[in-house]
Amino acid sequence: MAVRRLHQEQPESFEFSPENLDWARLQIAKYPEGREASAVILLLWRAQEQHAGWLPEPAMRYIADMLGMAYIRVLEVATFYTMFQLSPVGKKAHIQVCGTTPCQLRGAEDLIEVCKKRISNHPHSLSANGDFSWEEVECLGACVNAPMIQIFKDTYEDLGPAAFEDLITDLEAGRQINPGPQIDRVYAMPAGGTTSLTDPSLYDGSMVKHGLPVKSDTDNPAIGSKEADTEANIFLSGPRGKPDDLKKISGVGKVLETKLNNLGIYHYQQIADFTKQDIDKIDGLLRFKGRIARESWLEQAVILASGNQTEFSSRVANHKVPSSSNEGDK
Ligand code: FES
Repeated sequence: MAVRRLHQEQPESFEFSPENLDWARLQIAKYPEGREASAVILLLWRAQEQHAGWLPEPAMRYIADMLGMAYIRVLEVATFYTMFQLSPVGKKAHIQVCGTTPCQLRGAEDLIEVCKKRISNHPHSLSANGDFSWEEVECLGACVNAPMIQIFKDTYEDLGPAAFEDLITDLEAGRQINPGPQIDRVYAMPAGGTTSLTDPSLYDGSMVKHGLPVKSDTDNPAIGSKEADTEANIFLSGPRGKPDDLKKISGVGKVLETKLNNLGIYHYQQIADFTKQDIDKIDGLLRFKGRIARESWLEQAVILASGNQTEFSSRVANHKVPSSSNEGDK
């Protein structure tokens, strides 16, 4: 990255326009007394926007005075971040080309060659008509769509030299250009089209069971999986009528009851019907480490599902088990 220096020609002074001054005071007031310096980036950015896209040195001092900061502190901020331009930029575009590894491996150097050919041989120099300037910067956070450039606040991604030249031509002609990927890709989705969740039955309603919508696999890893669909599925997408009070099973408190409900387990009968596979799956999903067997959930669930009480469930019913009240957690 180039050394960032202040431009050799600077204006005599800088001050915010009345509107920007009101705006700046509003921003500063958002911070506690003594912390006004927190507004420095906001104010520098607004100053840059006001001053034709670059930040003159008097603006840095002006903002330092507003915020009660030492000049050197504001200078440090302005010279550190490549979002701040320290010399005049093109009227139509200042193009920042990401030159960090992913972009470099995917052709950033070709884009820089285009900048040299179409704009200027040197970064931070204006094109002959003053409409364009360029520079190389570090990663701009769109690596997945490398190589990419940024113009003011927008990024243009998946660029090859030809597409980049077209983009500059459009800018020159005043035509609208669209930010984002410049190939047939939606945002950061896979180039060339979707590669996962392509089964149409995921979207045609055929996976709705028990008359209730099936939770998505992001909601419930047990429900949406292929495995769950091929096995007899004990996980429900919602309770059948009123859910049972699973806290009547010794070992299940409020927290575990919520976790089981989130998995799609609401009824004693479901637990009574657990197979070894079900137990292994739930053990894995909830990291139970064998507690279902250890605490005899199935035996208890069989009794409760038949409408009878266990010694423990009677105590819960009589409010003698605090951890099984709705306030208690286990
Ligand atoms: S490396 Fe270019 S955007 Fe990250």
